[in-house]
Amino acid sequence: MKSIFISLEGPEGAGKSTVLEALLPILSEKREVVATREPGGVRIAEDIRNIVLDQKNTSLDGKTELLLFAAARRVHLLEKIKPALEAGKLVLVDRFIDSSVAYQGFAGGVEVEQVKWLNDFATDSLKPDLTLFFDLEPEEGLKRVMNNGEREKNRLDLAELDYHNKVYKGYKALLKTDSDRIVSVDASQSPEEVVKEALEVIYSRFLGEF
Ligand code: TYD
Repeated sequence: MKSIFISLEGPEGAGKSTVLEALLPILSEKREVVATREPGGVRIAEDIRNIVLDQKNTSLDGKTELLLFAAARRVHLLEKIKPALEAGKLVLVDRFIDSSVAYQGFAGGVEVEQVKWLNDFATDSLKPDLTLFFDLEPEEGLKRVMNNGEREKNRLDLAELDYHNKVYKGYKALLKTDSDRIVSVDASQSPEEVVKEALEVIYSRFLGEF
């Protein structure tokens, strides 16, 4: 079977992780699925995650952050994503290259072209076949995050609304420049509706693969 590589992107609180969990059993009925996340997914990358998202590490500048995410991405790609794709599996990843462009680039102030270059360097230019962008206004997303007592709040969750507005604008810009890869899903709907819409996009994009 042909491999399929799908990334899930969006601002904080857009519900990516919830949707991913809901998609997993449905897609697993038809294909072998590997679900994973960034930063993380494999041990070394999870260790880097702990450094980069630690609330103590407020002094990290944008470029340092970018390099850490990129290092985590490369080890994750080599150890988990590539082998799964080579085995013809469906890989679902919670955040990938576009998070670096939106967060470290548009919001963090690193030049967007440099972020894209470093992403290409870290991934040998591998891009997802499809990226689902869970579209939710940052203010709404942050409200959800703050109201969800169970959710662990990381350093970037706690950044100012202005930062998250820039992240959101970054994603909107990517939707335009990468319109054949990135598809927007309305994340303001109920979780069931969001899952339904995401599945429709996946099935229509990969006709004959399920
Ligand atoms: P996580 O707890 O997984 O948040 P979410 O549920 O919103 O995905 O934390 C991931 C955080 O890391 C999130 O704030 C976005 C940030 N991030 C970047 O800034 N750059 C990146 O390249 C990646 C992969 C994540």
